[in-house]
Amino acid sequence: MVEAAITPKTKAIIVVHLFGKVCDMRSISRIAERHGIAVVEDMAQSLGARLWGNMCGNLGDIAALSFYPTKNLGGIGEGGMVLTKRDDLAHRVRMLRVHGMDQVPYLHQLIGINSRLDEIKACALVEKLRIWRPGTRSASPMPRLTTGTSRNCLWCCPRWKVPGLMSFTST
Ligand SMILES: Cc1ncc(COP(=O)(O)O)c(C=O)c1O
Repeated sequence: MVEAAITPKTKAIIVVHLFGKVCDMRSISRIAERHGIAVVEDMAQSLGARLWGNMCGNLGDIAALSFYPTKNLGGIGEGGMVLTKRDDLAHRVRMLRVHGMDQVPYLHQLIGINSRLDEIKACALVEKLRIWRPGTRSASPMPRLTTGTSRNCLWCCPRWKVPGLMSFTST
């Protein structure tokens, strides 16, 4: 189903590890490799969740994390983090978060945003991270296979039988 949606314009597959459950990243990565496109992980709800022993955020090209207070690692307001091992993406994200600036002040090379995490929020997160443990339990298979259409979007909740560890919000 994912592969069928790929067109020559497709640049990346975005997976959402929803409710603490990691997507089937082996299949997704194989598809991405076949088409030479990137994989973006939305792990806003899944910090600490694992699949085959690998923690999410480490399974694609780049991952986005939310520190909104209701999330797995909730902070003291809005905030988030991007994780990547790719230097090119890290560089681009660093520029995007500060209005598209690189080394030269006031030389805006990209259309960026103001997305800096301020120090007070960062301090609170660092302190919380010291004591934070994911509320986890072993992933169980989904009770049924569901497919359908929502507007123009074909969707599917796959049956899930891989060894994983779910991670829940504990606030
Ligand atoms: C799966 C998922 N992705 C992204 C977001 C957005 O996170 P934020 O509000 O920190 O940008 C949320 C927040 O509800 C989410 O649950």
